[in-house]
Amino acid sequence: MSNIYNCTPYKIDIPDITGSEGIYLFDKKGKKYMDLESGVWCTSVGHNNEQLNDVIKKQISLIMHAGFSYSGTIVEESAESILKITGLENGKCVFLCSGSEAIELARQISKKVTGKKISMTMHDSYLGSYSSVTDRSENWYIFNWEKCKSCKFKRNCRIDCEQFENIPENLSDFIFEPGSSSGFVRFPPESLILNIVKIVKTNGGKIILNEVTTGIGRTGRWFGFNHYGIKADMIAIGKGVGNGYPVSVTVLNKETADQSAKAGFKYMQSHQNDPLGASIVKEVINIIDSNDLVAEAERKGELFLQQLMDLQKNKIITGVRGRGLLFAVDICDKKTGDYIYKKLLEKGFIVCNRGALFRIDPSLIISEEEFDLFIKAFNNILDSI
Ligand SMILES: Cc1ncc(COP(=O)(O)O)c(C=O)c1O
Repeated sequence: MSNIYNCTPYKIDIPDITGSEGIYLFDKKGKKYMDLESGVWCTSVGHNNEQLNDVIKKQISLIMHAGFSYSGTIVEESAESILKITGLENGKCVFLCSGSEAIELARQISKKVTGKKISMTMHDSYLGSYSSVTDRSENWYIFNWEKCKSCKFKRNCRIDCEQFENIPENLSDFIFEPGSSSGFVRFPPESLILNIVKIVKTNGGKIILNEVTTGIGRTGRWFGFNHYGIKADMIAIGKGVGNGYPVSVTVLNKETADQSAKAGFKYMQSHQNDPLGASIVKEVINIIDSNDLVAEAERKGELFLQQLMDLQKNKIITGVRGRGLLFAVDICDKKTGDYIYKKLLEKGFIVCNRGALFRIDPSLIISEEEFDLFIKAFNNILDSI
């Protein structure tokens, strides 16, 4: 194949996918792959989910797209579902197309309503592919929390710590990714985050939570920030909320929604509040809720974390972290990581390979038996090295 669609470009490890079901992908020859990356963390309720497919087919037969000026009850109902799970019932939201866009919009709103320009984020956070968030040279304050990891006060962070001295007073917002850190699955200490939130709020800045990877049950709570005692002004949700369909959501608490309306903030794009995307969000939430998949992510997450930790008996595995069904496995070096990744792929298992680190983010529907198969295959490869 010439890959004429790959001009950006990136590596394509399986070029001939033809089908999918549950946590599996199938290639042209019928080979089955267990997708432990959930299509870049997106397929929260599994590939080719029949219940979701039925809703999609029904919605397509009614109305797929109308343009943002022509709306319907499905968009309102879906907004109610999303506001309920975020705990921002009096707030407002908008359906967009990608995680990057959801963050971009939240940032634009905070600038408009605070009248300030500078955003703050952690040094290792990933906020999307837009240059407004990747180009950190201008209008950004980057908080480096590397030192905080080994600080003796990490469980009881002091607000008078010198780490906080340089935080600018004129911040428009703090954009926090609660427990992913560019996919490295690191969890900044709660007391550190509580202090940062206090400082930013005292100075009139907004708290924007980037739940693109940690949201929709992935961490064993509806949202990653539910593990921290913090409140959101805005929440950016993506990936798992669409189960692979490109829909995302920016949610505003009531105060921010009121301020935004008062300030006359406007944002419009062609696919904003599309009925199809909204119907998918509503059904994904329904499937997760009615199958208790958030609690299941917590329960299975503890079991799977222990199984991954046990792999550390082999010195090739140098670290394991996780929360719910969000895991990272450190490998001794990139060459070994690449080798194990290749072997896993040969045996029909997909993990996200970042060289000396694997990210493992299975769909919330994965069974214990399925994860056992992966652990056995992983173990066999480790023993063979
Ligand atoms: C933590 C985090 N935030 C934001 C994004 C951007 O989401 P999208 O790729 O849907 O634009 C990603 C994508 O990987 C992400 O991992």
